[in-house]
Amino acid sequence: MKNISLAIDGPASSGKSTVAKLLAKEFQFIYTDTGAMYRSLTYLAITHHVTFDDEAGLVDLIKKYPISFKQTEEGQLVFVDGKDVTDAIRQPEVTNAVSEVSAHAKVREEMVALQQTIAENGGVVMDGRDIGTAVLPNAEVKIFLVASVTERAERRYKENLEKGIATDFETLKKEIQQRDYIDSTREVSPLTQADDAVRIDTTGMSIDKVVDAIHQIIKEKGYL
Ligand code: CDP
Ligand code: CDP
Repeated sequence: MKNISLAIDGPASSGKSTVAKLLAKEFQFIYTDTGAMYRSLTYLAITHHVTFDDEAGLVDLIKKYPISFKQTEEGQLVFVDGKDVTDAIRQPEVTNAVSEVSAHAKVREEMVALQQTIAENGGVVMDGRDIGTAVLPNAEVKIFLVASVTERAERRYKENLEKGIATDFETLKKEIQQRDYIDSTREVSPLTQADDAVRIDTTGMSIDKVVDAIHQIIKEKGYL
């Protein structure tokens, strides 16, 4: 496998991180979950009492508390401020505020610069909302995953159940729609498909099928 960059974007629960992790493992590439970076910043804002509208305060937090990832047998762990925040950044308090935090232009500028540094030597699978459009506009392979909102809410509902978290399905669906709306309508690098990205509608598709479809795309482009 050539040392390429793979950009995977799409709305909440479209399957980005699951598929990105599998591909990174197979190709022995670096996997970067950029959503976890925005979630970690939101977690920092909550714990350090910085309000979500305080752009300068949020930028200070990024500079003061570097976010790091650690690859383990059980999966990727996220660390910030000396703590393992892997589970904390998935809590509803963070999920419901992350789109507001990530809409600030200066916050995105800092995050995009960090993400570009991670990817500078290629050999990376990066997932998020603006990877193909803003972070890695020259990525060799760009994938845009979508699925119906009902299926995406069902996936998240099941995932929560497996973790022992009981959620109301309709509330979950509304929260996903709300987050997609903010992410797609913000002024700076909104969630949108890059012109040269391949769109895959994963509604009704298993994870294996999605991975197969991406393999096919990489093959067709001559990288596999
Ligand atoms: O996994 P899930 O789809 O719930 O979201 P995520 O990938 O963890 O991203 C959480 C939030 O971070 C998104 O709803 C966006 O507001 C923001 N985000 C972003 O603005 N740009 C990215 N490249 C990645 C995430
Ligand atoms: O990263 P993103 O928010 O786009 O989605 P994810 O965290 O990869 O996937 C959300 C949930 O949907 C996980 O529990 C996946 O196992 C599941 N999933 C699925 O059932 N079928 C797919 N084709 C993709 C993901």
